[in-house]
Amino acid sequence: MMTALANVFIWVFQRLAVWGEGLLALALLIVQGGGALVSGTLGAFFLKPLTQRRIFALLRGFWPNLSLNRIVMKSYENTGTALVTRREDCLEVLNRNADFEVVYGTRMRKLTAGDNFFLGMQPGWDYTRDTSAMRLAARMTDVAEIVQPRAAKIAEQAVAASGGKIDIVPSLTLQVPWDMTAHYFGTGGSRESMVDWTTTLFTYLFLDLEADAQLDARAMEQAGQLRDYLDGAICARKARPTDAPDILNRCLELQSADTPGMSDLGIRNNMLGLLIGAIPTISRASCLALDELLNRPEALASAQAAARAGNDALLAQHVWEALRFNPFNPVIYRRATRDTQVAASTLRRIKIRKGQMVFAANFSACFDRFEIADPGRFRTDRPWEDYIIWGYGMHTCFGATINQAVIPAILEPLLMRKNLRRAPGVAGQIDCGTSSFPEHFHLEFDS
Ligand code: HEM
Repeated sequence: MMTALANVFIWVFQRLAVWGEGLLALALLIVQGGGALVSGTLGAFFLKPLTQRRIFALLRGFWPNLSLNRIVMKSYENTGTALVTRREDCLEVLNRNADFEVVYGTRMRKLTAGDNFFLGMQPGWDYTRDTSAMRLAARMTDVAEIVQPRAAKIAEQAVAASGGKIDIVPSLTLQVPWDMTAHYFGTGGSRESMVDWTTTLFTYLFLDLEADAQLDARAMEQAGQLRDYLDGAICARKARPTDAPDILNRCLELQSADTPGMSDLGIRNNMLGLLIGAIPTISRASCLALDELLNRPEALASAQAAARAGNDALLAQHVWEALRFNPFNPVIYRRATRDTQVAASTLRRIKIRKGQMVFAANFSACFDRFEIADPGRFRTDRPWEDYIIWGYGMHTCFGATINQAVIPAILEPLLMRKNLRRAPGVAGQIDCGTSSFPEHFHLEFDS
């Protein structure tokens, strides 16, 4: 009886807190949005993570699930848009693969000039074949044995060579993942081309809301270049075999054993998909995490103390928490394969029409007071399950274990330096140029 009463009390308290948060968010959005409107910076205002967090708080409080006729995502066929903001509902969408499908297949096929890549596949033989083979080629144990130590070494060298003034994007956050693909993936190549190709192709696959024709043309050209490059790299490796413990060699070993999906074409397409996922993503996530820490002096000091004490686990907790506040992607999207519902049997039940694009707001889910303790506070004691940083369910990031090791390895040598700070002026802010990915981010420290 006492437990039931306590549960009712907690539920009422949480409900009031969620409404209160929603109202406060609304008031702040009106005041600050008004200011942005007057100063002509409304676009930038809506791109800020803090603004998006407030919009999600308002929605979670009053309209947790929305369904609209309007088409927001124009690059993949759909009949309208739905948005779900509560954690439970986001996970429901990402778990129900048969009802909410991944959409990337059409563009993925354009990039490979034929076949799909596993992120664009529904459950079935093709998905199982490709993920199984690639998991054998990219072994989880490689991360601790090969990937992390090399990333830590390259990162330390880059920071040490900088003499206290560093543009971390070219010197560090792109250098480390590119080096990982060159050596551990075994695909080599020039850094400039790999970064350029993978950044364009990532943008084309995941971020092209407007179906930009110029981007389409650029992506087709660069996908052709990347395909040719990878075909050449596979041929060259077969002509001059090595015994390096890299993904390409493992794929070729699987090919010799007649493993399904490991023809030269299969290897090339799988490599193409992994490369697109690996380089711009790690760079951007590293910059965002550091940017958030630099905005929070206490959290920065605590992350630095963890780095100096060699407490890798605690340092990583700071990074995940920073990415909760400043995420790589605020939503993950799927398309409804039939008329259906989300959050059935609740007051927030929403009907979804076949063909609607459903945005599961992972950013919002990580702040859902009903499931996340003390969501507004920067805390370093959260369980890993609280985070949805690189997807959820069947399509959870293939590189999750790599990310968990490499992003802290990139940031650690910087955090160990004394008086780490932004460079003065705009140089000390992330500069994405005309893309969605950092191009420059100048920092300083006492050398
Ligand atoms: C911080 C860096 C990264 C972030 C933020 C990130 C983000 C994501 C997200 C959100 C998804 C799920 C997409 C969806 O469900 O629609 C995903 C899937 C995927 N990622 Fe990553 N990723 C990162 C790094 C990597 C790396 C290093 C690789 C390659 C080793 C990679 C390869 C993939 C692949 C292949 C999938 C599809 C998995 C599947 O369909 O089973 N990603 N990633």
